[in-house]
Order: sequence, then structure tokens, then C-alpha cells
Amino acid sequence: MHKDCERILFSEEQLRSRVAEVAKEVDKLYKDKNPLCVGILKGSIIFYSDFIRHLTAPVALDFMAVSSYGGGSVSSGKLRIKKDLDNDVKGRDVIVIEDIIDSGFTLANLKQLLLERGANSVLIVTLLNKKGRREYDIAPDFNCFDIENEFVVGYGLDYSERYRALPYIGILKHEVYENK
Ligand code: IMP
Ligand code: MG
Repeated sequence: MHKDCERILFSEEQLRSRVAEVAKEVDKLYKDKNPLCVGILKGSIIFYSDFIRHLTAPVALDFMAVSSYGGGSVSSGKLRIKKDLDNDVKGRDVIVIEDIIDSGFTLANLKQLLLERGANSVLIVTLLNKKGRREYDIAPDFNCFDIENEFVVGYGLDYSERYRALPYIGILKHEVYENK
């Protein structure tokens, strides 16, 4: 285990089997469709690539990078699009694939944006859900694991662009961000 982690929350094996389980459930809903899988950069990349390999429907792949304006507590804030989709979502069945839902700001705003652009449907799939932190009225349609209010890294998730390549999800030691 990495020295900056307090403990491993989800091992490689736990991630592999739960991601497969959720992806197979989602796949049943899209058998006769041609969904556009939208990954939210960069945290979702590893989850995204593991997830889509269980889909049997003919999928198209796309990515977006977003951030919020200013601090996280701006309730009327809007999403800032750092990298937009290559595909037009009009009439498409979109599957949004995200690493973690925290306050819900990102996904609430993103879902609204995709619907405004004319998506036929928007399904939200998350790897992790910090339920206790929700500030916006949004819930994932599918989620792999509920977690407590701990800062986690690995399997795509970062702290200051570090730890994304760890193959497991670990709880980051408090002293790592307290010493900053
Ligand atoms: P929300 O918009 O408040 O729901 O925040 C979601 C975003 O916050 C995620 O896409 C992550 O980038 C980031 N985030 C929240 N909690 C964590 C964590 O524990 N580890 C790494 N990133 C996190
Ligand atoms: Mg993110």
C-alpha cells in the first residue's frame, strides 16, 4: 500500500467484481440502443474503461472536463466546461460515467446541460457516492459503493493530481492534506 494511504477501502478484486456487476445491469437497459458514454475527466478514466468493456450494446465514447466557478458552496454557481464533447447529444441516450458524487453540484448541473442540449435520456453511473455530503437534488441511477465522508484516492481519483494510478481505492492520510 502507498505510504500516504491510511488503509485500502476497496481492493482491485472488489473493484473488478462490483464494476462488472453494475455494468452488466446497465447493459440490460441498453440492449437495443446506441448509447453515448460520457466520461468526466480525469477522475473517471479507469472506472470508465473497466465499465464500458462490459457493455454489449454498440456504444460511442466521449469525454468532458468540467469544474465549478469559485468555491464549492456557490449555490447558484454554474459549471465551467474545460473540454466539451465532440458529439452532438441531441436525441442520444447518454450514460454519464463519473468517479464520485459529493455535493452533487457537478452531476446536477451536467445532467441539466445535457437535457437542455436535447439528449433523449441521461443515465448517471458513479463509482462512489458520498451520500452524507449531498447539497444538490440529484442521485446516481447506478452506483458501485457508498462511502463515508473520507477523502479517497486511487483508481483514477486524485489529490492534487497525485495517486490516480493506484490500482485500489485508499483513504488518504489526513496529514497529507493538513501539511499543505
Ligand atoms: P461534487 O460536484 O461536489 O459532487 O464533487 C464531485 C467531484 O469532487 C468529483 O468529481 C471529484 O473530482 C471531487 N471529489 C470529491 N470527493 C473526492 C475524494 O474523496 N477524492 C477525490 N476527489 C473527490
Ligand atoms: Mg471529478
